[in-house]
Amino acid sequence: MNSKELFEQAKKYIPGGVNSPLRAFKPYPFFVKKGIGSHLIDVDGNNYIDYCLAYGPLILGHSNEKVIEDLNKRVELGTIYGAPTENEIILAKEVINRIPSAEMVRFVNSGSEATMSAIRLARSFTKRDKIVKFDGAYHGSHDYCLVKKGFGATSLPDCEGIPIETTKNTLIVPFNDEESLIELIEKDGENIACIIMEVIMGNIGFIPPKKGYLEFLRKITNENGIVLIFDEVITGFRLSKGGAQEYYGVKPDMTTLGKIVGGGLPMGAFCGRKEIMEKVAPIGNVYQAGTFNGNPISSQAGISTLQQLDNAFYKRLAKKGNLLRDGFRDIKEDFDLPIYIAGDQSMFQIYFNENEVYNTNDAKKSDSSRFLLYFKKLLKKNIFIPPSQFECNFLSSAHTQEDLDKTLIAVEQSLKKVF
Ligand SMILES: Cc1ncc(COP(=O)(O)O)c(C=O)c1O
Repeated sequence: MNSKELFEQAKKYIPGGVNSPLRAFKPYPFFVKKGIGSHLIDVDGNNYIDYCLAYGPLILGHSNEKVIEDLNKRVELGTIYGAPTENEIILAKEVINRIPSAEMVRFVNSGSEATMSAIRLARSFTKRDKIVKFDGAYHGSHDYCLVKKGFGATSLPDCEGIPIETTKNTLIVPFNDEESLIELIEKDGENIACIIMEVIMGNIGFIPPKKGYLEFLRKITNENGIVLIFDEVITGFRLSKGGAQEYYGVKPDMTTLGKIVGGGLPMGAFCGRKEIMEKVAPIGNVYQAGTFNGNPISSQAGISTLQQLDNAFYKRLAKKGNLLRDGFRDIKEDFDLPIYIAGDQSMFQIYFNENEVYNTNDAKKSDSSRFLLYFKKLLKKNIFIPPSQFECNFLSSAHTQEDLDKTLIAVEQSLKKVF
């Protein structure tokens, strides 16, 4: 069956034909046959250069030889036991040795579970109920964070089925705006358990913190007894060996991880200061449990991936990122296009916006319908990027110079067609 036929079938059994909403782009998504290196091959025989990389986990590209070899060996020993394995300790050490603020870690199964558990823990640690998140940040699909701005200080559920009693405890402030947060903390600081943030907002494209903003957040949270949580589900092991906190030199109290930590298999983690982490069951009273937590297969994929990531690796990857971004800037200038090139290291996005993007309000002014046209043009040229203006694109070590050269040609031709 081809992708079109498979999608018709899928729609009969799976809501919308997909198991995660973003995968359902129009007229129908391609169905994947296999992934090799920087390429995805679909059931229709198309071979795409992939900058989605499963939305971030595949920093080594698809089917990395060492990861697959180790997984094959590991799977022969069984898949899950309901009892601990040494792999969990090896992966815990890899995480703690890399992430500057991590003293202890608990492995879960997704980024959503990680942020949900970290928030619960921060609430228990501070004995406070309210949490702060930034407008446009995404921390997974649970009720605490699927929240949007209402009128005034009120937050509203961002999807049906979430009680307003839950969302009223989630306060929303604009990113990169010191004044709004100072005002909020002056009013309600003694009730705020934590601030959870994407250090780089990767779910609204790519928005880095302004210079000094993270230091400001560290100071104001310290002064007010608020737990600072860096949600590094995207940036952890992506921006540098020790994530965004190492890259920017600011340590949070807690960190959430996902994507790369599981080396392409389902995995999440939350980690942080020992005195906070020791509140987690069974030694503390904050319940957190999972049948598949720390399972030996995901742990193996995580170990086999992280052990390939040293400082030299990140330097090589950043070079590819710079090459692409420089190329995009040349195209923008040569053809005087109203676009804004964002990104750092191996992350990037082209905003269809002539102005710089510092927060969600700026990002939302982008021409997302024109972006979708661009996405389609690129897909026709066998380049796959996430089908949304508000996602981030990723590079892997598997991307070759030939891939980058082909991409720049395709991007130039596609941009010229849509403007
Ligand atoms: C910053 C951030 N936090 C949390 C999540 C949720 O992770 P998961 O999809 O593994 O539940 C995501 C997912 O994209 C994310 O980007």
